[in-house]
Amino acid sequence: MAKNNTHVLEYDFDFAFPKITHGKGIYLYDDTGKEYIDGCGGMISNSLGHGREDMAKVVADQTASVAFVNRHVATTDVIEKAADKLHEVTGMDRFFTVCGGTEANEICTKIARLHWYHKGQPDKNKIIGRWNSYHGYSIDTLSYGGHSGRRKEFMSYLRDDIHTIPPYCYRCWLGKECGSCDLDCANSLEEEILKHGPENIAAFIFEVVSGTAMNASVAPDGYYKRIREICDKYDVLMIVDEVMTGSGRTGSMLAIDQYGIKPDIVTLAKSVGGGYFPVGIACCTEEVIEPIKEHGLFSPVHTWASNPIASAVALKTLEIFEEENLFENVRVQGSYMKEQLEAMKERHPSIGNISGKGLMLGVEFVKDKATKEPFDPKLKIADRLALAAMDMGLFVMNTAGFAEEGAGDGIMFGPCFEITREEVDKMLNIFENAISKIEAEEEM
Ligand SMILES: Cc1ncc(COP(=O)(O)O)c(C=O)c1O
Repeated sequence: MAKNNTHVLEYDFDFAFPKITHGKGIYLYDDTGKEYIDGCGGMISNSLGHGREDMAKVVADQTASVAFVNRHVATTDVIEKAADKLHEVTGMDRFFTVCGGTEANEICTKIARLHWYHKGQPDKNKIIGRWNSYHGYSIDTLSYGGHSGRRKEFMSYLRDDIHTIPPYCYRCWLGKECGSCDLDCANSLEEEILKHGPENIAAFIFEVVSGTAMNASVAPDGYYKRIREICDKYDVLMIVDEVMTGSGRTGSMLAIDQYGIKPDIVTLAKSVGGGYFPVGIACCTEEVIEPIKEHGLFSPVHTWASNPIASAVALKTLEIFEEENLFENVRVQGSYMKEQLEAMKERHPSIGNISGKGLMLGVEFVKDKATKEPFDPKLKIADRLALAAMDMGLFVMNTAGFAEEGAGDGIMFGPCFEITREEVDKMLNIFENAISKIEAEEEM
């Protein structure tokens, strides 16, 4: 496609993006009338399908009644109602609404630091993250985040934060076999805490199922139980970044619910806004807030925080999830889709691994299935695959850089929760054609 002149600071300076005019359900349409399946639901952010009148109405109604009030002087009914609903579905006690995932994580790590500060332990302020993780694009979140590709241009600005070994069983960093190890990736948290001193560590932050930084990798059994034990042993707060996994994306309100673990702090974004408004939510238990409460004020002064429109949209989204039994559909279609992808893996030499939970699924591509050798990053396999799929009428999310030395190509799916079995079949059919095209180009 030829590049049009534009004043927009676009993602790709050379590529002329299709111009989307409208959407309905899983479909998007461009100004030439071409249809695309939105296989990655925006940025794995649109839990609800496109073009829902009820969501348009909730935004319009809240905007018409009151669009914004300064939280330092007043509150609104909808903010209270959304917090009550969030309490009911997450089991957390306090909620602070912001504009996205990065901001939610920044607030949550600040809450953790404030917790210890007001407990008289100001040095207990370091955050531990994992390698191959992503928590946002600010300097703070990139510092404890562990996505080498996204960090490299900003290294001189970043703090020297602490990182643990990621639970990446397909390419275990410790050379172990999944299911027969002693969870040394989890134990690396204890090693780091002891190395730096528990009196200096405020919190450990992680994604339950990895996002784009590790292509929907699922941690081995027992990993999170061990992490909870280590956090408890050393008085380290557990922050679960559920920006991508949360709000039903993996089939339960929180992905961590599936492990029977109660976190101290949780961040939500993406799916909790349905795909209709930018929402991020910092959530925590009353125990975490207690010392801050004694001090008197919770002072972050983000202007658009506690936005009534965000609360109205989150509340409506959570109600729709229940009314339409959408988490059940996520589980049913997600496991059907995973089965189909596993079968596709058998048919294609380039598919090395299928990962993920619910409707958050990843496909990893390899040059050699037996050795798991990744493709040369110069071949840009994931980018080319996403482009081939787009040409054929499917949007997917390309991921890269999670294998050795910046290699590793993947595709992630995250369609809306209303997707049907027929739509899954149609989507995967296009995807398989795109894979066949790239394999033919690579003479596989
Ligand atoms: C796990 C995770 N955390 C945080 C973020 C950052 O969220 P946002 O892009 O809304 O700032 C993302 C974004 O993809 C994410 O996947």
